[in-house]
Amino acid sequence: MEIDIQLVPSQPDSDILLNRTVVVIDVLRATSVMVHAMWQGALEIIPLATAEAAFEMAKVFPRGSIILGGERRSKKIPGFDLGNSPKEYVAERVKGKKLILTTTNGTKAFHVVSSGREILVGSFFNIGITAQRCLELNRDLLIFPSGDEGKFSLEDTICGGMLIDLIAKKWKKPIALTDASGCAQILYQRFESNLLEAFHLSHHGRELIHRGFEEDLVYCAQIDITDIVPEFRGGIIKT
Ligand code: MLT
Repeated sequence: MEIDIQLVPSQPDSDILLNRTVVVIDVLRATSVMVHAMWQGALEIIPLATAEAAFEMAKVFPRGSIILGGERRSKKIPGFDLGNSPKEYVAERVKGKKLILTTTNGTKAFHVVSSGREILVGSFFNIGITAQRCLELNRDLLIFPSGDEGKFSLEDTICGGMLIDLIAKKWKKPIALTDASGCAQILYQRFESNLLEAFHLSHHGRELIHRGFEEDLVYCAQIDITDIVPEFRGGIIKT
């Protein structure tokens, strides 16, 4: 098995993706929201690039059956039901509903890697079970941190590094790490005992604090609170 990680969220070669499992990660906060919402009983999630596309998509479904969620500059989009804090996505709001979600980086990332063999949704919330699923699938892996407006993201890379570390510890056969994945693993090991420290150092973490969402950093640092691994297929995220 080879594990690679895309340190900046540029378009990978689609030939490379065809036979790989891809794990998309946006710890702060899109994939944390997705995992949380599915765990709390959302039926499915449609990740879209723009608010306009989300409003259009909402017209297709009966009123009351969908929730519009997401952010721009970390804040709830005017006319939307929910913002982009995982804690908002609780059973009372999302159970039995379809979620139409648009965020700055995370929802777009799924469309960038859409030719992957399987496309899994990763976060600290479901990191252990995601590692387990990758081991069962037994394919080369591309971890895709969704980044920070096209740039490297510390918190996503560390989450990717934890995934690599967990897989490497359980995989019985030789494992090939690219320089990028070795680097992510070392970064994770540096912050293993204090993920919050890394969140506070990261550009997006500091931005979230500045915008009033410091509690989300603490919340998103929780490890293995659920055992679901949502998967993106045909434009939809489901478990
Ligand atoms: C994103 O997808 O860019 C993030 O989740 C942004 C945020 O929540 O502030």
